[in-house]
Amino acid sequence: MQSGYVAPLFLIVFSALTAHAQAPEPPAPKQLPAVVAGIPVNYDESKVGEYTLPDPLKLNNGKPVRNAKTWYTKRRPEIEETFETQQYGRDPGRPADESFDVTDPGTPALDGKAIRKQVTISFSKDPSWPKIHLLIYLPADAKKPVPMLFSINFGAVQNAVDDPGITPEEVWDPKTNTKVFPREGSVYGHIDAEPLLAAGLGVATFYYGDVDPDYAQGFSNGIRAHFLKPGRTERAPDDWGSIAAWAWGMSRVEDYFETDKEIDAKRVAIHGISRLGKTVMWAGAHDQRFAAVIASCSGEGGAALSHRDYGETIAHLTIPRRFPYQFAPNYAKYAGFPDKAPMDANMLIALIAPRPLLLQTGSTDYWSDPKGEFLAEVAAGPVYKLLGKDPLDTDVWPAPKQPILHDLAYYMHEGGHGMVPGDWEIYIEFLKMHLHPEP
Ligand code: GCU
Repeated sequence: MQSGYVAPLFLIVFSALTAHAQAPEPPAPKQLPAVVAGIPVNYDESKVGEYTLPDPLKLNNGKPVRNAKTWYTKRRPEIEETFETQQYGRDPGRPADESFDVTDPGTPALDGKAIRKQVTISFSKDPSWPKIHLLIYLPADAKKPVPMLFSINFGAVQNAVDDPGITPEEVWDPKTNTKVFPREGSVYGHIDAEPLLAAGLGVATFYYGDVDPDYAQGFSNGIRAHFLKPGRTERAPDDWGSIAAWAWGMSRVEDYFETDKEIDAKRVAIHGISRLGKTVMWAGAHDQRFAAVIASCSGEGGAALSHRDYGETIAHLTIPRRFPYQFAPNYAKYAGFPDKAPMDANMLIALIAPRPLLLQTGSTDYWSDPKGEFLAEVAAGPVYKLLGKDPLDTDVWPAPKQPILHDLAYYMHEGGHGMVPGDWEIYIEFLKMHLHPEP
């Protein structure tokens, strides 16, 4: 481990936790590919082996973190820097020329239940730069600034909600590296807006490709092309990948929320699925303005432990023909050597502390290692405790459909990767607990 030795107490505590976390051990799944992209995949609990996680409550100089002040002023910045340089890459911060164009200032929509707004967010005065097309619904009868569920979307906004008033937009076609109008009804991007609105929550979403395309394209398109240092065609080891770019886009939306008097920018929960689950983990860790995080099946590179060899690994993420563009080039150093990484998902979760975090997983989503996400939350528990918040309070992995909704929250639906309809109810319960909407 690069971060030096791990405090004996932490070792003892963690091995005790792992020893008891044995609730619904799924059978070693059969017929799952034993090799992906030429790299073996372990799905056998008995072969996970032993591992020692980097300790979020120990400073890089080896000294323990004993109070909130040391956490906020010393340890938190150290961990954030590690994730910036080693995993996601550094972003350029808020652009000086950012501007907001409210193209739809508030139109009754969804059978009168909502007010729809549409906002174009520009990052530069140069019109050729990417722009975010933000779609917002607010409860029609809201009397005060509303808390929000803000979900980053795989699809175009016109497919997110059934509303003919949405200005349609194009999406990237990886085959041609051009933008085209999408097919209707992307399963992943649909948002169940009405129950959220009924609970007193606003809803916002944008298409992630507005910021950066989701494929390697030699910096011909997307926001990262505009920040490549002059004369460079390759990224520096700590340059941002597209996950950091998508997360940066979410922060630009929060910049807008801070200007909108109908929105309570201090009560914004963020949500994303899969690679966008990884995105909201980093957005929530890096931008402390976000009040809460819901990460769906974020898996490896998100909330699942890398030191635990189960399902996808850093090697699968960073092998050239898969997803290296999503991460800082440095991340590939840990492919095959997760034990050498100075960070892991327990520390990413710790960066979200003291704010509420819900990890939603799927019982048959073995690739994303739902148990590894649970164990990461368990191992981040001491940081929540130090900050006076409620961790999971158990080290026993719950069965499917048994939510634990504390400040740290965990829910595993019955089924696979992504979301299933019942997940929305759990989200709303979690959001009501922590954002206190007025229905
Ligand atoms: C792949 C990848 C995952 C990722 C997922 C997705 O399966 O291996 O890490 O989460 O794509 O984004 O759908």
